[in-house]
Amino acid sequence: MADVTNPYYVTTPIYYVNDAPHIGHAYTTITADAVARWNRLLGRDVHFLTGTDEHGLKVQRAAEENDCSPIEWADQTVVRFQDAWNQLQISNDDFIRTSEKRHYAAVQKLLQACYDNGDVDLQTYEGLYCVSCEAYFNETDLDEGNCPIHGRPVEHVTEENYFFKLSRYEDALKDWYAAHPDFVQPATKRNEALGFINQGLQDFSISRTSIDWGIPLPWDPGHVTYVWFDALTNYITAAGYVDNPEEFESRWPAVHLIGKDILRFHCVYWPAMLMSAGLQPPERVHVHGFLLVGGEKMSKTRLNQIAPADLVEDFGVDGVRHHFLHDQTFGPDGDFSHEGMTARYNADLANNLGNLLSRVTTVVTSKCEGVGPAANPDSPLAEIVQAEYQKIADGWQRIAPSEALDATWRIIRETNAYLENAEPWKSDPGPDVDAILGDALEILRIVSILASPAVPNACIEIRRRIGLDEDPTQQQLPDSIEWGQYPGGLPVLKGDPLFPRLK
Ligand code: MSP
Repeated sequence: MADVTNPYYVTTPIYYVNDAPHIGHAYTTITADAVARWNRLLGRDVHFLTGTDEHGLKVQRAAEENDCSPIEWADQTVVRFQDAWNQLQISNDDFIRTSEKRHYAAVQKLLQACYDNGDVDLQTYEGLYCVSCEAYFNETDLDEGNCPIHGRPVEHVTEENYFFKLSRYEDALKDWYAAHPDFVQPATKRNEALGFINQGLQDFSISRTSIDWGIPLPWDPGHVTYVWFDALTNYITAAGYVDNPEEFESRWPAVHLIGKDILRFHCVYWPAMLMSAGLQPPERVHVHGFLLVGGEKMSKTRLNQIAPADLVEDFGVDGVRHHFLHDQTFGPDGDFSHEGMTARYNADLANNLGNLLSRVTTVVTSKCEGVGPAANPDSPLAEIVQAEYQKIADGWQRIAPSEALDATWRIIRETNAYLENAEPWKSDPGPDVDAILGDALEILRIVSILASPAVPNACIEIRRRIGLDEDPTQQQLPDSIEWGQYPGGLPVLKGDPLFPRLK
Protein backbone atom coordinates (compact mmCIF):
# COMPACT_ATOMS: atom_id res chain seq x y z
CA MET A 1 0.00 0.00 0.00
CA ALA A 2 1.06 3.56 -0.63
CA ASP A 3 2.82 5.44 2.13
CA VAL A 4 0.54 8.46 2.19
CA THR A 5 3.08 10.60 3.99
CA ASN A 6 5.24 10.61 0.84
CA PRO A 7 4.54 13.29 -1.73
CA TYR A 8 3.43 11.91 -5.08
CA TYR A 9 4.83 13.41 -8.27
CA VAL A 10 3.25 12.08 -11.46
CA THR A 11 3.96 13.16 -15.03
CA THR A 12 2.78 12.67 -18.59
CA PRO A 13 5.12 13.00 -21.55
CA ILE A 14 5.27 16.56 -22.83
CA TYR A 15 3.53 16.62 -26.19
CA TYR A 16 5.01 18.03 -29.38
CA VAL A 17 3.35 21.35 -29.75
CA ASN A 18 3.05 20.79 -33.51
CA ASP A 19 0.53 18.03 -33.19
CA ALA A 20 -3.14 18.48 -32.54
CA PRO A 21 -4.16 16.59 -29.40
CA HIS A 22 -5.59 13.19 -30.24
CA ILE A 23 -6.98 10.39 -28.12
CA GLY A 24 -3.53 8.77 -27.79
CA HIS A 25 -2.37 11.88 -25.91
CA ALA A 26 -5.66 12.04 -24.02
CA TYR A 27 -5.30 8.43 -22.92
CA THR A 28 -2.07 9.03 -20.98
CA THR A 29 -3.23 12.37 -19.67
CA ILE A 30 -6.57 11.05 -18.40
CA THR A 31 -4.79 8.14 -16.73
CA ALA A 32 -2.30 10.42 -15.00
CA ASP A 33 -5.17 12.68 -13.96
CA ALA A 34 -7.19 9.85 -12.44
CA VAL A 35 -4.13 8.54 -10.61
CA ALA A 36 -3.42 12.05 -9.30
CA ARG A 37 -7.02 12.41 -8.14
CA TRP A 38 -6.87 9.03 -6.40
CA ASN A 39 -3.70 9.95 -4.56
CA ARG A 40 -5.20 13.28 -3.49
CA LEU A 41 -8.11 11.32 -1.99
CA LEU A 42 -5.55 9.35 -0.01
CA GLY A 43 -4.40 12.67 1.42
CA ARG A 44 -1.07 12.68 -0.38
CA ASP A 45 0.72 15.84 -1.41
CA VAL A 46 0.28 15.37 -5.16
CA HIS A 47 2.07 17.23 -7.91
CA PHE A 48 0.75 16.40 -11.37
CA LEU A 49 2.66 17.73 -14.36
CA THR A 50 1.93 17.83 -18.07
CA GLY A 51 3.05 20.22 -20.78
CA THR A 52 4.47 20.70 -24.25
CA ASP A 53 7.74 19.98 -26.04
CA GLU A 54 8.45 23.06 -28.13
CA HIS A 55 12.02 23.02 -29.45
CA GLY A 56 13.73 21.14 -32.23
CA LEU A 57 13.69 20.81 -35.97
CA LYS A 58 10.10 19.63 -36.22
CA VAL A 59 8.74 22.81 -34.65
CA GLN A 60 11.23 25.08 -36.42
CA ARG A 61 10.15 23.67 -39.80
CA ALA A 62 6.46 23.94 -39.02
CA ALA A 63 6.96 27.60 -38.03
CA GLU A 64 8.78 28.27 -41.33
CA GLU A 65 5.94 26.67 -43.26
CA ASN A 66 3.49 28.90 -41.41
CA ASP A 67 5.54 32.07 -41.92
CA CYS A 68 6.10 32.79 -38.29
CA SER A 69 8.81 32.44 -35.67
CA PRO A 70 9.01 29.20 -33.69
CA ILE A 71 7.82 30.89 -30.51
CA GLU A 72 4.87 32.49 -32.30
CA TRP A 73 4.00 29.08 -33.69
CA ALA A 74 4.30 27.44 -30.27
CA ASP A 75 2.21 30.18 -28.66
CA GLN A 76 -0.54 29.52 -31.19
CA THR A 77 -0.51 25.76 -30.95
CA VAL A 78 0.03 25.19 -27.23
CA VAL A 79 -3.51 26.41 -26.67
CA ARG A 80 -4.88 23.32 -28.38
CA PHE A 81 -3.44 21.14 -25.65
CA GLN A 82 -4.43 23.48 -22.85
CA ASP A 83 -8.00 23.66 -24.17
CA ALA A 84 -8.24 19.90 -24.61
CA TRP A 85 -7.06 19.27 -21.06
CA ASN A 86 -9.41 21.89 -19.65
CA GLN A 87 -12.28 20.29 -21.46
CA LEU A 88 -11.42 16.84 -20.08
CA GLN A 89 -11.11 18.36 -16.60
CA ILE A 90 -7.49 17.40 -16.22
CA SER A 91 -6.37 18.52 -12.78
CA ASN A 92 -2.67 19.16 -13.49
CA ASP A 93 -0.91 21.29 -10.89
CA ASP A 94 1.52 22.69 -13.44
CA PHE A 95 1.80 22.94 -17.22
CA ILE A 96 5.33 23.21 -18.48
CA ARG A 97 6.39 24.63 -21.82
CA THR A 98 10.00 23.95 -22.75
CA SER A 99 10.26 27.48 -24.16
CA GLU A 100 9.88 28.92 -20.65
CA LYS A 101 12.79 30.66 -18.90
CA ARG A 102 12.67 28.35 -15.89
CA HIS A 103 13.27 25.44 -18.24
CA TYR A 104 16.25 27.07 -19.98
CA ALA A 105 17.89 27.44 -16.61
CA ALA A 106 17.26 23.81 -15.68
CA VAL A 107 18.54 22.40 -18.97
CA GLN A 108 21.69 24.49 -18.74
CA LYS A 109 22.23 23.44 -15.14
CA LEU A 110 21.82 19.75 -15.97
CA LEU A 111 24.08 20.02 -19.04
CA GLN A 112 26.74 21.78 -17.03
CA ALA A 113 26.57 19.13 -14.30
CA CYS A 114 27.05 16.32 -16.86
CA TYR A 115 29.85 18.29 -18.54
CA ASP A 116 31.60 18.95 -15.24
CA ASN A 117 31.37 15.27 -14.47
CA GLY A 118 33.35 14.55 -17.64
CA ASP A 119 30.44 12.87 -19.43
CA VAL A 120 30.29 15.15 -22.48
CA ASP A 121 32.71 15.40 -25.42
CA LEU A 122 32.82 16.71 -28.99
CA GLN A 123 32.60 14.18 -31.84
CA THR A 124 31.77 14.25 -35.51
CA TYR A 125 28.60 12.43 -36.24
CA GLU A 126 27.17 10.99 -39.39
CA GLY A 127 23.83 9.35 -39.23
CA LEU A 128 20.29 8.82 -40.43
CA TYR A 129 17.86 11.18 -38.77
CA CYS A 130 14.07 10.99 -38.52
CA VAL A 131 12.70 14.49 -37.96
CA SER A 132 9.36 13.17 -36.70
CA CYS A 133 11.08 11.15 -33.96
CA GLU A 134 13.86 13.72 -33.55
CA ALA A 135 16.20 10.73 -33.31
CA TYR A 136 18.99 8.97 -35.17
CA PHE A 137 18.62 5.42 -36.48
CA ASN A 138 21.05 2.75 -37.61
CA GLU A 139 20.66 1.42 -41.14
CA THR A 140 19.50 -1.90 -39.67
CA ASP A 141 16.69 -0.25 -37.68
CA LEU A 142 15.04 1.08 -40.84
CA ASP A 143 11.99 -0.34 -42.49
CA GLU A 144 12.77 -0.40 -46.24
CA GLY A 145 14.87 2.71 -45.81
CA ASN A 146 12.15 4.53 -43.81
CA CYS A 147 11.75 5.37 -40.15
CA PRO A 148 10.34 2.23 -38.44
CA ILE A 149 7.87 4.34 -36.43
CA HIS A 150 6.70 6.98 -38.90
CA GLY A 151 7.31 5.14 -42.17
CA ARG A 152 8.84 8.34 -43.59
CA PRO A 153 12.26 8.74 -45.25
CA VAL A 154 15.15 9.51 -42.90
CA GLU A 155 17.71 12.24 -43.64
CA HIS A 156 21.42 11.74 -43.94
CA VAL A 157 23.09 14.15 -41.51
CA THR A 158 26.75 14.95 -40.77
CA GLU A 159 27.39 17.19 -37.80
CA GLU A 160 29.92 18.04 -35.18
CA ASN A 161 28.00 17.39 -31.99
CA TYR A 162 28.59 17.12 -28.30
CA PHE A 163 27.97 13.61 -27.10
CA PHE A 164 26.77 12.29 -23.80
CA LYS A 165 28.88 9.31 -22.76
CA LEU A 166 26.05 6.91 -22.23
CA SER A 167 28.42 3.96 -22.64
CA ARG A 168 29.93 4.84 -19.27
CA TYR A 169 26.61 4.14 -17.57
CA GLU A 170 26.06 0.60 -18.76
CA ASP A 171 27.05 -1.00 -15.47
CA ALA A 172 25.40 1.63 -13.31
CA LEU A 173 22.13 1.13 -15.22
CA LYS A 174 22.35 -2.66 -14.93
CA ASP A 175 22.92 -2.28 -11.19
CA TRP A 176 20.01 0.13 -10.91
CA TYR A 177 17.66 -2.28 -12.69
CA ALA A 178 18.84 -5.17 -10.52
CA ALA A 179 18.30 -3.20 -7.32
CA HIS A 180 14.91 -1.83 -8.45
CA PRO A 181 13.00 -4.70 -10.04
CA ASP A 182 9.85 -2.55 -10.35
CA PHE A 183 11.60 0.40 -11.98
CA VAL A 184 9.84 -0.13 -15.32
CA GLN A 185 6.31 -1.51 -15.52
CA PRO A 186 5.03 -3.84 -16.95
CA ALA A 187 7.75 -6.51 -16.77
CA THR A 188 7.76 -6.98 -20.57
CA LYS A 189 8.77 -3.35 -20.96
CA ARG A 190 11.38 -3.66 -18.25
CA ASN A 191 12.87 -6.54 -20.22
CA GLU A 192 12.83 -4.46 -23.37
CA ALA A 193 14.72 -1.66 -21.63
CA LEU A 194 17.21 -4.11 -20.15
CA GLY A 195 17.60 -5.62 -23.61
CA PHE A 196 18.80 -2.23 -24.93
CA ILE A 197 21.26 -1.92 -22.09
CA ASN A 198 22.55 -5.46 -22.48
CA GLN A 199 23.17 -4.95 -26.20
CA GLY A 200 25.79 -2.37 -25.25
CA LEU A 201 25.15 1.36 -25.09
CA GLN A 202 26.40 3.94 -27.55
CA ASP A 203 27.04 7.56 -26.67
CA PHE A 204 24.35 9.87 -28.00
CA SER A 205 24.59 13.35 -29.37
CA ILE A 206 23.11 16.10 -27.23
CA SER A 207 23.67 19.18 -29.37
CA ARG A 208 22.93 20.52 -32.84
CA THR A 209 24.51 23.29 -34.89
CA SER A 210 22.11 22.94 -37.82
CA ILE A 211 19.23 24.64 -36.03
CA ASP A 212 18.91 27.55 -33.67
CA TRP A 213 15.49 26.91 -32.10
CA GLY A 214 16.63 25.44 -28.83
CA ILE A 215 18.59 26.05 -25.66
CA PRO A 216 22.26 27.04 -26.15
CA LEU A 217 24.90 24.89 -24.45
CA PRO A 218 26.29 26.88 -21.54
CA TRP A 219 29.94 26.26 -22.52
CA ASP A 220 29.49 26.54 -26.31
CA PRO A 221 26.50 28.68 -27.28
CA GLY A 222 27.03 27.95 -30.99
CA HIS A 223 25.30 24.64 -30.26
CA VAL A 224 21.71 24.20 -29.17
CA THR A 225 20.63 21.33 -26.95
CA TYR A 226 19.24 18.21 -28.62
CA VAL A 227 15.49 18.27 -28.19
CA TRP A 228 15.28 15.00 -26.24
CA PHE A 229 17.90 16.06 -23.70
CA ASP A 230 15.95 19.29 -23.39
CA ALA A 231 12.53 17.60 -23.18
CA LEU A 232 13.40 15.00 -20.55
CA THR A 233 14.73 17.72 -18.29
CA ASN A 234 11.21 19.19 -18.01
CA TYR A 235 10.46 16.73 -15.23
CA ILE A 236 13.07 18.22 -12.94
CA THR A 237 12.51 21.83 -14.05
CA ALA A 238 8.97 21.65 -12.75
CA ALA A 239 10.07 20.06 -9.48
CA GLY A 240 12.21 23.07 -8.58
CA TYR A 241 15.64 21.80 -9.72
CA VAL A 242 16.98 25.30 -10.22
CA ASP A 243 14.94 27.68 -8.16
CA ASN A 244 13.65 25.66 -5.24
CA PRO A 245 16.06 23.07 -3.81
CA GLU A 246 13.78 22.36 -0.88
CA GLU A 247 10.83 21.59 -3.10
CA PHE A 248 13.07 19.51 -5.34
CA GLU A 249 14.27 17.49 -2.38
CA SER A 250 10.74 16.61 -1.37
CA ARG A 251 9.19 16.07 -4.85
CA TRP A 252 11.82 14.25 -6.84
CA PRO A 253 11.85 11.41 -7.98
CA ALA A 254 8.73 11.21 -10.15
CA VAL A 255 6.46 8.49 -11.46
CA HIS A 256 6.44 8.80 -15.27
CA LEU A 257 3.65 7.60 -17.53
CA ILE A 258 4.77 7.13 -21.13
CA GLY A 259 3.93 5.37 -24.40
CA LYS A 260 6.02 2.45 -25.60
CA ASP A 261 7.68 4.42 -28.42
CA ILE A 262 9.59 6.63 -25.98
CA LEU A 263 10.79 3.86 -23.69
CA ARG A 264 14.48 4.07 -24.64
CA PHE A 265 14.61 7.79 -23.81
CA HIS A 266 12.92 7.40 -20.42
CA CYS A 267 14.30 4.08 -19.27
CA VAL A 268 17.88 4.29 -20.54
CA TYR A 269 18.98 7.85 -21.46
CA TRP A 270 17.11 9.68 -18.71
CA PRO A 271 18.30 7.68 -15.68
CA ALA A 272 21.87 7.89 -17.00
CA MET A 273 21.62 11.68 -17.47
CA LEU A 274 20.37 12.02 -13.91
CA MET A 275 23.08 9.75 -12.52
CA SER A 276 25.69 11.81 -14.32
CA ALA A 277 24.42 14.94 -12.58
CA GLY A 278 24.35 13.17 -9.22
CA LEU A 279 20.53 13.03 -9.13
CA GLN A 280 18.25 10.09 -8.46
CA PRO A 281 16.65 8.25 -11.40
CA PRO A 282 12.84 8.37 -11.59
CA GLU A 283 10.93 6.36 -9.05
CA ARG A 284 9.09 4.37 -11.70
CA VAL A 285 8.26 4.41 -15.39
CA HIS A 286 4.88 3.01 -16.41
CA VAL A 287 4.73 2.18 -20.09
CA HIS A 288 1.53 1.79 -22.08
CA GLY A 289 0.83 0.55 -25.58
CA PHE A 290 -0.79 2.34 -28.48
CA LEU A 291 -4.42 2.98 -29.09
CA LEU A 292 -5.12 1.55 -32.49
CA VAL A 293 -7.88 2.68 -34.78
CA GLY A 294 -9.00 -0.09 -37.12
CA GLY A 295 -5.90 -2.03 -36.07
CA GLU A 296 -3.51 0.82 -37.04
CA LYS A 297 -1.59 3.41 -35.04
CA MET A 298 -3.06 6.86 -35.35
CA SER A 299 -1.00 9.27 -37.36
CA LYS A 300 -1.30 12.49 -39.31
CA THR A 301 -0.30 10.73 -42.52
CA ARG A 302 -2.97 8.06 -42.14
CA LEU A 303 -5.56 10.74 -41.35
CA ASN A 304 -7.03 8.51 -38.67
CA GLN A 305 -6.47 10.74 -35.66
CA ILE A 306 -9.45 11.25 -33.40
CA ALA A 307 -9.73 14.47 -31.40
CA PRO A 308 -10.92 14.07 -27.80
CA ALA A 309 -13.35 16.97 -28.34
CA ASP A 310 -15.27 14.96 -30.95
CA LEU A 311 -15.85 12.16 -28.47
CA VAL A 312 -16.85 14.55 -25.70
CA GLU A 313 -19.70 15.74 -27.92
CA ASP A 314 -21.17 12.23 -28.05
CA PHE A 315 -20.16 10.71 -24.73
CA GLY A 316 -19.65 13.65 -22.39
CA VAL A 317 -16.49 14.29 -20.39
CA ASP A 318 -17.14 11.47 -17.92
CA GLY A 319 -18.01 9.03 -20.71
CA VAL A 320 -14.70 9.70 -22.46
CA ARG A 321 -12.66 9.52 -19.28
CA HIS A 322 -14.36 6.33 -18.17
CA HIS A 323 -13.81 4.61 -21.49
CA PHE A 324 -10.07 5.23 -21.55
CA LEU A 325 -9.67 4.22 -17.94
CA HIS A 326 -11.89 1.16 -17.87
CA ASP A 327 -11.77 -0.25 -21.38
CA GLN A 328 -8.16 0.32 -22.32
CA THR A 329 -5.94 -1.80 -20.12
CA PHE A 330 -2.82 0.22 -19.28
CA GLY A 331 0.06 -1.72 -20.84
CA PRO A 332 -0.81 -3.54 -24.05
CA ASP A 333 -2.02 -1.98 -27.32
CA GLY A 334 -5.77 -1.48 -27.38
CA ASP A 335 -8.25 -1.13 -30.20
CA PHE A 336 -10.39 1.95 -30.10
CA SER A 337 -13.85 1.89 -31.66
CA HIS A 338 -17.04 3.90 -31.27
CA GLU A 339 -18.95 0.62 -30.88
CA GLY A 340 -16.73 -0.51 -28.00
CA MET A 341 -17.02 2.88 -26.41
CA THR A 342 -20.82 2.93 -26.73
CA ALA A 343 -21.08 -0.57 -25.27
CA ARG A 344 -18.98 0.39 -22.25
CA TYR A 345 -20.91 3.60 -21.72
CA ASN A 346 -24.26 1.84 -21.82
CA ALA A 347 -23.16 -1.07 -19.62
CA ASP A 348 -21.29 0.80 -16.89
CA LEU A 349 -22.66 4.28 -16.91
CA ALA A 350 -26.25 4.13 -18.18
CA ASN A 351 -27.29 0.64 -16.98
CA ASN A 352 -25.30 0.31 -13.80
CA LEU A 353 -24.36 3.58 -12.16
CA GLY A 354 -27.09 5.73 -13.75
CA ASN A 355 -29.73 3.11 -13.13
CA LEU A 356 -28.75 2.67 -9.48
CA LEU A 357 -29.09 6.39 -8.83
CA SER A 358 -32.36 6.64 -10.69
CA ARG A 359 -33.90 3.63 -8.91
CA VAL A 360 -32.88 4.74 -5.47
CA THR A 361 -33.98 8.34 -5.88
CA THR A 362 -37.29 7.25 -7.45
CA VAL A 363 -38.14 4.81 -4.66
CA VAL A 364 -37.05 7.21 -1.91
CA THR A 365 -39.40 9.75 -3.50
CA SER A 366 -42.35 7.36 -3.64
CA LYS A 367 -41.85 5.43 -0.39
CA CYS A 368 -40.07 7.85 1.92
CA GLU A 369 -41.50 11.19 0.84
CA GLY A 370 -38.18 12.15 -0.66
CA VAL A 371 -36.23 11.96 2.59
CA GLY A 372 -33.30 9.55 2.53
CA PRO A 373 -33.19 6.99 5.36
CA ALA A 374 -29.92 6.41 7.23
CA ALA A 375 -27.59 3.51 6.48
CA ASN A 376 -28.24 0.25 8.27
CA PRO A 377 -25.26 -0.55 10.56
CA ASP A 378 -24.97 -4.22 9.66
CA SER A 379 -25.66 -4.38 6.00
CA PRO A 380 -24.34 -7.23 3.84
CA LEU A 381 -23.14 -4.53 1.44
CA ALA A 382 -20.60 -3.24 3.98
CA GLU A 383 -18.44 -6.33 3.55
CA ILE A 384 -18.51 -6.05 -0.21
CA VAL A 385 -17.24 -2.48 0.03
CA GLN A 386 -14.39 -3.52 2.32
CA ALA A 387 -13.33 -6.39 0.09
CA GLU A 388 -13.45 -4.39 -3.12
CA TYR A 389 -11.73 -1.37 -1.60
CA GLN A 390 -8.49 -3.33 -1.25
CA LYS A 391 -8.58 -4.19 -4.95
CA ILE A 392 -9.48 -0.65 -5.93
CA ALA A 393 -6.62 0.83 -3.93
CA ASP A 394 -4.22 -1.75 -5.26
CA GLY A 395 -5.32 -1.12 -8.87
CA TRP A 396 -4.74 2.64 -8.65
CA GLN A 397 -1.45 2.13 -6.86
CA ARG A 398 -0.18 -0.14 -9.66
CA ILE A 399 -1.56 2.19 -12.35
CA ALA A 400 -4.05 -0.44 -13.42
CA PRO A 401 -7.17 1.76 -13.67
CA SER A 402 -9.19 -0.91 -15.44
CA GLU A 403 -8.75 -3.23 -12.45
CA ALA A 404 -9.57 -0.46 -9.97
CA LEU A 405 -12.74 0.31 -11.92
CA ASP A 406 -13.69 -3.37 -12.29
CA ALA A 407 -13.74 -3.55 -8.52
CA THR A 408 -15.60 -0.23 -8.18
CA TRP A 409 -18.27 -1.40 -10.60
CA ARG A 410 -18.61 -4.74 -8.79
CA ILE A 411 -19.88 -2.75 -5.81
CA ILE A 412 -22.42 -1.00 -8.04
CA ARG A 413 -23.56 -4.24 -9.69
CA GLU A 414 -23.91 -6.05 -6.37
CA THR A 415 -26.03 -3.18 -5.08
CA ASN A 416 -28.30 -3.32 -8.11
CA ALA A 417 -28.64 -7.08 -7.59
CA TYR A 418 -29.42 -6.51 -3.90
CA LEU A 419 -32.20 -4.10 -4.84
CA GLU A 420 -33.58 -6.44 -7.49
CA ASN A 421 -33.71 -9.18 -4.93
CA ALA A 422 -35.32 -7.06 -2.20
CA GLU A 423 -37.67 -5.17 -4.56
CA PRO A 424 -38.33 -2.25 -2.20
CA TRP A 425 -40.51 -0.65 -4.89
CA LYS A 426 -43.07 -3.41 -4.35
CA SER A 427 -43.25 -3.14 -0.55
CA ASP A 428 -45.25 -0.82 1.65
CA PRO A 429 -43.35 2.02 3.28
CA GLY A 430 -41.85 1.05 6.62
CA PRO A 431 -38.64 0.07 8.43
CA ASP A 432 -37.78 -2.77 6.01
CA VAL A 433 -37.91 -0.52 2.99
CA ASP A 434 -36.02 2.18 4.87
CA ALA A 435 -33.22 -0.25 5.73
CA ILE A 436 -32.76 -1.32 2.13
CA LEU A 437 -32.84 2.20 0.78
CA GLY A 438 -30.51 3.45 3.51
CA ASP A 439 -27.99 0.82 2.40
CA ALA A 440 -28.32 1.81 -1.23
CA LEU A 441 -27.90 5.50 -0.39
CA GLU A 442 -24.81 4.66 1.63
CA ILE A 443 -23.41 2.83 -1.40
CA LEU A 444 -24.13 5.84 -3.59
CA ARG A 445 -22.26 8.01 -1.09
CA ILE A 446 -19.30 5.64 -1.07
CA VAL A 447 -19.27 5.21 -4.84
CA SER A 448 -19.37 8.98 -5.31
CA ILE A 449 -15.93 9.01 -3.68
CA LEU A 450 -14.44 5.85 -5.17
CA ALA A 451 -15.51 6.57 -8.74
CA SER A 452 -14.59 10.26 -8.66
CA PRO A 453 -11.11 9.86 -10.20
CA ALA A 454 -12.82 8.48 -13.31
CA VAL A 455 -16.18 10.25 -13.50
CA PRO A 456 -15.84 13.43 -11.40
CA ASN A 457 -18.95 15.19 -12.70
CA ALA A 458 -21.30 12.28 -12.15
CA CYS A 459 -19.96 11.93 -8.62
CA ILE A 460 -20.71 15.55 -7.75
CA GLU A 461 -24.21 15.13 -9.17
CA ILE A 462 -24.84 11.87 -7.28
CA ARG A 463 -23.96 13.60 -4.03
CA ARG A 464 -26.20 16.55 -4.83
CA ARG A 465 -29.14 14.25 -5.50
CA ILE A 466 -28.75 12.36 -2.24
CA GLY A 467 -28.48 15.56 -0.24
CA LEU A 468 -24.72 15.73 0.35
CA ASP A 469 -23.05 19.03 -0.35
CA GLU A 470 -19.32 18.61 -0.13
CA ASP A 471 -17.40 17.82 -3.23
CA PRO A 472 -16.06 14.24 -3.41
CA THR A 473 -12.54 15.66 -3.72
CA GLN A 474 -12.83 16.92 -0.15
CA GLN A 475 -13.24 13.36 1.15
CA GLN A 476 -10.31 11.43 2.54
CA LEU A 477 -9.70 7.74 2.03
CA PRO A 478 -10.06 5.27 3.60
CA ASP A 479 -11.93 6.97 6.49
CA SER A 480 -14.64 8.35 4.24
CA ILE A 481 -15.72 4.91 3.05
CA GLU A 482 -16.17 3.45 6.49
CA TRP A 483 -19.69 2.08 6.56
CA GLY A 484 -22.56 4.03 8.04
CA GLN A 485 -21.83 7.68 7.34
CA TYR A 486 -24.90 8.49 5.25
CA PRO A 487 -26.78 10.33 7.96
CA GLY A 488 -30.37 9.98 6.79
CA GLY A 489 -32.94 12.73 6.94
CA LEU A 490 -31.54 14.43 3.85
CA PRO A 491 -33.61 15.54 0.86
CA VAL A 492 -33.26 13.16 -2.08
CA LEU A 493 -33.96 14.43 -5.57
CA LYS A 494 -35.17 12.63 -8.65
CA GLY A 495 -33.73 14.04 -11.84
CA ASP A 496 -32.88 13.46 -15.46
CA PRO A 497 -30.91 10.31 -16.25
CA LEU A 498 -27.29 10.77 -15.23
CA PHE A 499 -26.13 8.99 -18.39
CA PRO A 500 -28.85 8.80 -21.06
CA ARG A 501 -28.57 5.50 -22.95
CA LEU A 502 -26.83 5.76 -26.31
CA LYS A 503 -27.91 3.97 -29.47
N1 MSP B 1 7.68 15.11 -27.10
C1 MSP B 1 7.92 13.73 -26.96
C2 MSP B 1 7.87 13.31 -25.52
C3 MSP B 1 8.86 13.98 -24.64
S1 MSP B 1 8.69 13.48 -22.99
C4 MSP B 1 10.00 14.09 -22.23
C5 MSP B 1 6.84 12.96 -27.73
N2 MSP B 1 5.72 13.61 -27.96
S2 MSP B 1 4.46 13.02 -28.77
O1 MSP B 1 3.49 14.07 -28.72
O2 MSP B 1 4.86 12.55 -30.05
O3 MSP B 1 3.98 11.77 -28.00
C6 MSP B 1 3.65 11.86 -26.68
C7 MSP B 1 3.04 10.60 -26.17
O4 MSP B 1 1.87 10.27 -26.88
C8 MSP B 1 3.94 9.39 -26.23
O5 MSP B 1 3.92 8.75 -24.96
C9 MSP B 1 3.30 8.50 -27.24
O6 MSP B 1 3.47 7.15 -26.93
C10 MSP B 1 1.84 8.89 -27.06
N3 MSP B 1 1.06 8.49 -28.21
C11 MSP B 1 1.13 8.96 -29.48
N4 MSP B 1 0.27 8.22 -30.24
C12 MSP B 1 -0.34 7.29 -29.48
C13 MSP B 1 -1.35 6.35 -29.67
N5 MSP B 1 -1.89 6.12 -30.84
N6 MSP B 1 -1.78 5.67 -28.58
C14 MSP B 1 -1.31 5.90 -27.32
N7 MSP B 1 -0.37 6.78 -27.12
C15 MSP B 1 0.25 7.37 -28.19
O7 MSP B 1 7.06 11.81 -28.04
